[in-house]
Amino acid sequence: MCGKLLSIENLTVQFRSGGRWITAIEDVNLGLAERECLGIVGESGSGKSVTALTVLGLHAPKSTRIASGRIVYQDRDLLAVPARALERIRGAEIAMIFQDPMSSLNPVLTIGDQIGETLRIHQGLSAADALRRSVELLDMVRIPDARRRVTEYPHRLSGGMRQRVMIAMAIACRPKILIADEPTTALDVTVQAQILNLLRDLRAELGMSVILISHDMGVISEFTDRIAVMYAGQVVEQAAGSGLFERPMHPYTDGLLRAIPDIDADVARLATISGSIPDPAYPPAGCRFHPRCPEAIAACTQQMPAMIDLSAQHQTRCPPRAAGRMA
Ligand SMILES: Nc1ncnc2c1ncn2[C@@H]1O[C@H](COP(=O)(O)OP(=O)(O)OP(=O)(O)O)[C@@H](O)[C@H]1O
Ligand code: SF4
Ligand SMILES: [Mg+2]
Repeated sequence: MCGKLLSIENLTVQFRSGGRWITAIEDVNLGLAERECLGIVGESGSGKSVTALTVLGLHAPKSTRIASGRIVYQDRDLLAVPARALERIRGAEIAMIFQDPMSSLNPVLTIGDQIGETLRIHQGLSAADALRRSVELLDMVRIPDARRRVTEYPHRLSGGMRQRVMIAMAIACRPKILIADEPTTALDVTVQAQILNLLRDLRAELGMSVILISHDMGVISEFTDRIAVMYAGQVVEQAAGSGLFERPMHPYTDGLLRAIPDIDADVARLATISGSIPDPAYPPAGCRFHPRCPEAIAACTQQMPAMIDLSAQHQTRCPPRAAGRMA
């Protein structure tokens, strides 16, 4: 991995449930370079959001335990900085947008009031300056007629427009990192493409790094420089550029790739990965993917595979495949 702006190291997060601690993510290692777009992909429940929310310290403290790890941002461990310092970083330097813009927007405040609030808190702008800047930000996220829209309430906007407002709020303080957690899942396909293109343009304009989270390998492949595949709370494969597509080295990645719709292919049904992701309260022994893996061997049921470096740009948690490649 190249020079890192953010580095998640050996991160294990547990939640209290039914009187015991359940491991939601385990030994996660991820890096994000300046101006890089990292994609995190995996089925529902694989640990994508828990990873992102931990970066921003957004879990309920009483029911969450960081069992191990560090999250280093500009030489500071975000897990160790005081709450006030983390509040300053959150929103101003590391911002996040979520899947459902309506539940993140306040229905009784105008768009301008909501963007302006971020600006007043983090940048100390006056109400008039905050309003002026809010209009500029709505222009930046390509909302037509920004002067009028800034005075409107969220319910007047379409889903795509609301997501643009969320993006305007997220970039208001010119963050160094934008985390987009399933930003287009709730939108129809055309709007989805527009929002992803907007994120790509803004990343270039503002020189941001982006973490794009999705369960959709098609979306991830088109918009990211490097992809981390998560399964059952672990990163199971990571590769830069087209490495993952040309030579997937984990059977789970293979499964995700086969599930991407190919409009040119004459297939009646898409391939799916049989079975389902394990309950984190009862993870299988050995490789967590073994109950679903078409390539499992006896050793896979006994020993948890470690991450193996295939190259500086490609790692996998599948020793049998790695051995095959290295043989
Ligand atoms: N606050 C919580 N308390 C208990 N368990 C949680 C909590 N948040 C997440 N989990 C569990 O942690 C695991 C990972 O969840 P996470 O939300 O990160 O998945 P995800 O990959 O983002 O899935 P999705 O694609 O559905 O958003 C899941 O098993 C989930 O049930
Ligand atoms: S370690 Fe074994 S079970 Fe796990 S992905 Fe590789 S072959 Fe499959
Ligand atoms: Mg999620």
